[in-house]
Amino acid sequence: MSESATKSIANRRIRVSSSTEQAYSDAAQLILDDANRAIAQRGKFTIALSGGSTPKRLFELMASDAWKNKIPWNNIEFFWGDERYVPPTDASSNYRMTREAMLDKVPISGVNVHRVMTEKPDQEAAAEYEKTIRQIVPAGANGVPEFDLILLGLGTNGHMASLFPHQPALHEHRKLVVAEYIDEVKMTRVTMTLPLINSAKSVVFVTLGPDKASVLREVIVGPRDPERLPAQLIQPSPGQLTWLIDAPASAELPKEILNS
Ligand code: 6PG
Repeated sequence: MSESATKSIANRRIRVSSSTEQAYSDAAQLILDDANRAIAQRGKFTIALSGGSTPKRLFELMASDAWKNKIPWNNIEFFWGDERYVPPTDASSNYRMTREAMLDKVPISGVNVHRVMTEKPDQEAAAEYEKTIRQIVPAGANGVPEFDLILLGLGTNGHMASLFPHQPALHEHRKLVVAEYIDEVKMTRVTMTLPLINSAKSVVFVTLGPDKASVLREVIVGPRDPERLPAQLIQPSPGQLTWLIDAPASAELPKEILNS
């Protein structure tokens, strides 16, 4: 195996949970462990949440009696990896989904919850979000903020955050947040870009269910084709990449790479 391939696998791990519900518990535990470690070291934990439907159950679990008193809510700086360019009250808003599933149910002050201000014009909202990230998330030697953890979901078309196939945003190497109209979903999205995502200390995909099995195989073991499969561009360095999946999503992956 080539050096680069070996290296890329060196900081990549694939974890198959024993059930879908267990995958959510495993994700919550991973977040809690990362948070406790970061807070012990630096007094705060910076996280970017994913959107879409998969994380809703995770957020509900984190807000449940079994978890909410374990989580140091007011030492965590909450961001989103992407947002639909809609009002924060819109049914398709990732912020609204997160608020209803979790934030409204936990003892959090709110000053540490940083949503995309979609009331502003889209490019301004993106620039403002980048500015807020730069103010709050400590940067590395290259001046790029390094999130402790960035959660991602995987679309069946291979997109993550709102970095969609063949979109110009895939080639953005200066801005950390951009707003872009995505024809595939007929809406404008605000999204973190690859320089920011790949600077994170830990990037975790939570990818569950049988409808993700095919794209997961293509992304992880298929030919390199990042224009068509943007998730192949997620290569944090020196950070850690974790795929947290369930058995149905792992169905098409070679057994030897599971739990690697
Ligand atoms: C969004 C998400 C997006 C999502 C994937 C997977 O705003 O929709 O950020 O990247 O994670 O599309 O979505 P599901 O979890 O609904 O399959």
